[in-house]
Amino acid sequence: MRILGIESSCDETGVAVYDDEKGLLSHVLHTQIAMHAEYGGVVPELASRDHIKRVVPLIKLALEKASITPKDLCAVAYTAGPGLIGALLTGAMGAVAYAKALDLPAVPVHHMEGHLLAPMLEDPKPVFPFVALLISGGHTMLIKVERPGSYELLGQSIDDAAGEAFDKTAKLLGIPYPGGPELEKLAKKGHSGVFAFPRPMLKTPGCDFSFAGLKTAVLNACLEHKDDLDEKRADIALGFTEAVADTLKHKCERALKQTGMKRLVVAGGVSANTDIRNALQQLMQKMHGEIFFARREFCTDNGAMIAYAGMQRFKAGQIGDYTVKVHPRWPLISLKAL
Ligand code: KG4
Ligand code: ZN
Repeated sequence: MRILGIESSCDETGVAVYDDEKGLLSHVLHTQIAMHAEYGGVVPELASRDHIKRVVPLIKLALEKASITPKDLCAVAYTAGPGLIGALLTGAMGAVAYAKALDLPAVPVHHMEGHLLAPMLEDPKPVFPFVALLISGGHTMLIKVERPGSYELLGQSIDDAAGEAFDKTAKLLGIPYPGGPELEKLAKKGHSGVFAFPRPMLKTPGCDFSFAGLKTAVLNACLEHKDDLDEKRADIALGFTEAVADTLKHKCERALKQTGMKRLVVAGGVSANTDIRNALQQLMQKMHGEIFFARREFCTDNGAMIAYAGMQRFKAGQIGDYTVKVHPRWPLISLKAL
């Protein structure tokens, strides 16, 4: 069985074909980075208009690359939330119209479940149960995952998400949008330990995070070094990354100890960051456990993760009707277990 997956929740249009026996057959992506860069961030209206233009050509391309025709599909999955409402609507309308025209089921997918399951596209894939750390632009969550769809929230950010902290810090350092990947490049030129930023909420019990204070600490460092900021930018970028990585590491350790689990799955845009991957890898070595990531291109938004998650929902019979309904806010833990 082959499913088409369509992602359009923010600034990337992604389309992929996933086969439940052969795995991923194709995936294509159009990123709107260049378009939004001029404005220093995502402009929702422009994002929606661009998704409208991209979705049909990308569907054709994904099918072509998979060497299949629409008749070979069993269903069409799409991101139904959370995300920007206009952006979500474009992908959802495209997917539902396409599904109806082909007389196929349309399968709404939760974007964060897509991220969470993206490491399943790799070899070796994680075995259930595990603790998942989701670190994206809008969410930072630690989840106990018993099986697909069974999600218990262990902790989350009480203010900025990890990706948001990267993007805001990048702005303070004069790095153009998109902040995270560019900040990583700058941090590579920095010296470790020059800036020791706070590790927020490590003394607070539980698995919640807070990143807003870290951004203020970076702002203060920038003000303090306003005369030699050019020389210090890379050190600040690295100091910031180390503080985030260290905080994530401690909270993951706590979540693993609390649940008695030995497997950690890390997903979402920020999991593309090498320093963060390394820090969490070290933790799992120390704990004699296993760690799983998606390949870097599947850490950030993509159609492959939506096709994969859509296939799991489709096989469980959790298909939608042809009503176009999207959820800009949608708690992951409200999903039905599979
Ligand atoms: O998962 P994602 O693509 O979209 C959301 O669902 O939000 O995550 C985007 C976030 C952005 O904040 C971006 O700056 C961050 O992930 N990001 C990174 C890196 N690549 C993307 N942050 C740090 N290092 C990176 N290499
Ligand atoms: Zn995402």
